[in-house]
Amino acid sequence: MLAIFLDESIISDFVLFLLNFNELGCYLVQKLLFMSSNKIYIRGLRDVAACETRISFVDPFGALYYAGYDIDRLIGRVCFEEIIFLLNNGKLPNKKELENIKSTLYSGMKIPDKIIRKCANKKGHPMEILRTIISSLGEHDSDFENKEESGNNQIALQLIAQVPTIVAGIYRMRNGLKRVHPKKEYGFAENFLYMFRGKPADVAEKDAFDRYMILHADHGLNASTFAARVTASTLSDIYSAVVSAIGTLRGKLHGGASERVMAMLLDVNKPGEVEEYIQGMLFDGQKVMGFGHRVYKKEDPRSKYLRKIGKALCLDTNKKELYKKATTIQSVVHKERKIYPNVDFYAALVLNALEIPKEYFTPFFASSRIVGWTSHILEQYSEGVLIRPTSSYTGAYGTKFVPLDKR
Ligand code: COA
Repeated sequence: MLAIFLDESIISDFVLFLLNFNELGCYLVQKLLFMSSNKIYIRGLRDVAACETRISFVDPFGALYYAGYDIDRLIGRVCFEEIIFLLNNGKLPNKKELENIKSTLYSGMKIPDKIIRKCANKKGHPMEILRTIISSLGEHDSDFENKEESGNNQIALQLIAQVPTIVAGIYRMRNGLKRVHPKKEYGFAENFLYMFRGKPADVAEKDAFDRYMILHADHGLNASTFAARVTASTLSDIYSAVVSAIGTLRGKLHGGASERVMAMLLDVNKPGEVEEYIQGMLFDGQKVMGFGHRVYKKEDPRSKYLRKIGKALCLDTNKKELYKKATTIQSVVHKERKIYPNVDFYAALVLNALEIPKEYFTPFFASSRIVGWTSHILEQYSEGVLIRPTSSYTGAYGTKFVPLDKR
């Protein structure tokens, strides 16, 4: 009855007071803790908007917009360099601007061997090496606090140019191969493939890979972009923010999924065995890599394109059975769980057909997503607000202290 007249917080105050009436100081501390723990908690921040952005929009009903453009309107009509300009500047470049960005990127792609060599020979996953090299590049940016906006824009573009060269350099050095330098007459994505594989790409490969890069460039506030924005929000430097993003991307619930997709595709012997294989995984409570999405309720629009690109490449390269296995996995997973492939599923097929070893799938993802990361980092700097949520405390209060010799 009393509760009808008293507000909930007064009751909790009263209960706490009764429990602690002999320790007034402790009571006040507990009261503060109690108040601070009484927050809205949304598990996994599902559907929570943590920032405003003009860079890209992920439409849950199966569309993706880059700075206002539906990717359906961009794919096949623009090159990756135009997307870099669009995400960095909010508009598509004119001819002169495109020439300028191409030439800036080309100059930025040339990196001395020693920067890559000092880390490339270490053991570990290529994502670890990439993370370390980017971190070491940041050693030369100690005056970041005095940097003007234009200085940060310049670093962003430099990083976009450098990451693919570093990834290619890591691969070649670790495999005892000579590094291959970019060619002025090649496009940016084409040069990346060339530097990595050491041979020119044919027209179909060039086009497929340019589209792969476009489709991975940005994707709203995905986990790695969020990590980058959090770091940038403390007004730390761009390199640190990119290192945060790389560390976040490599996890298998994010960009690390495509490497596991490839392992799964190789593990299934033939299309006829897919159904039993997938049912076994689901029965064991495992997640099928490359499926499901936090935002999309329908098919990921990027997956639709990558499936098409993957199909064409697989048919060209005698990988018909690999493609068949992939599409059978898609049908079985959809039948069993009503979920769709995400970007990482058919990306594995595309990269495999382009002869990229699976350990490099996530570094390839990073080589494109660096565009989104840097755009978001710059946007976060201009926003000028610290991202610092709170937590909902579920631990104990008023725990009695026991001296060391009595524990
Ligand atoms: N395999 C099997 N079941 C899956 C699944 C997958 N890949 N993805 C989601 N599900 C199931 C969940 O188990 C859950 O089922 P339940 O409601 O019976 O518990 C349901 O679908 C909803 O999924 P949920 O866990 O709420 O999705 P999420 O938003 O928390 O997670 C991912 C999204 C991407 C992390 C998740 O789909 C996943 O782990 N996918 C595999 C990894 C991957 O491909 N990552 C790349 C993402 S781009």
